[in-house]
Amino acid sequence: MNFHVLTLFPEMIEGGLNASITGRAMEKELVNVNAVNIRDYAMNKHKRVDDYPYGGGAGMVMQAEPIYLAYEDLMRKINTKNPRVVYLTPQGQTFHQNMAQDFAKENDIILLCGHYEGVDERVLEMIVTDYVSIGDYVLTGGELPAMVMIDAISRLVPGVLHNDTSAEFESFQEDLLEYPQYTRPEVFMDKKVPDVLLSGHHANIEAWRKEQSVLRTKERRPDLYERYIHQKIT
Ligand code: ADE
Repeated sequence: MNFHVLTLFPEMIEGGLNASITGRAMEKELVNVNAVNIRDYAMNKHKRVDDYPYGGGAGMVMQAEPIYLAYEDLMRKINTKNPRVVYLTPQGQTFHQNMAQDFAKENDIILLCGHYEGVDERVLEMIVTDYVSIGDYVLTGGELPAMVMIDAISRLVPGVLHNDTSAEFESFQEDLLEYPQYTRPEVFMDKKVPDVLLSGHHANIEAWRKEQSVLRTKERRPDLYERYIHQKIT
């Protein structure tokens, strides 16, 4: 699985994903992250990639040309004919576990990170297939959202997690949040691990966990709970 990130801050992408599970996934070559510096495609002496907005207004706008040239060069290098090209923007569809699962089927994904006040609309119209937001708040650029997507998608690639079942029983499966987890010691500051988990009775443990998932979802995410209940009765 190859992620190609078009960015003005490649060091942010490289530095942010090198540790922990994503780092190991790259080491094992299950996942490859290719950060492309858009500035390398600036065709002017000063390597300028932004300019004032037509019509006036605050801030600068990223120019179409260097982004298009970076994209074109990348397309020459990869095997996938029509890869999905994601533009990270608060104006996109909100990223979701189902979306991560859908993206995990791809071989190559191109992620375009904007900065300043935005990107010239024309290049977006020409290359972007998906507009994705990671939530209703505004960040300074698309790099963190791109890393969020890469992290969430990578862990669904077979072999990235230690056991493939750990991606199966987790939050958002069936619209439920994950049940609470405990590890040693059995008693921590007078707080005891629930008895059922020490019982060795697998059916009871499973039933308890399901019940906890439902309770927790109802309490913390009533919106998800409504969906879960609705699904069960339809
Ligand atoms: N760029 C700036 N804010 C963003 C957000 N919330 N999601 C995706 N891209 C962004």
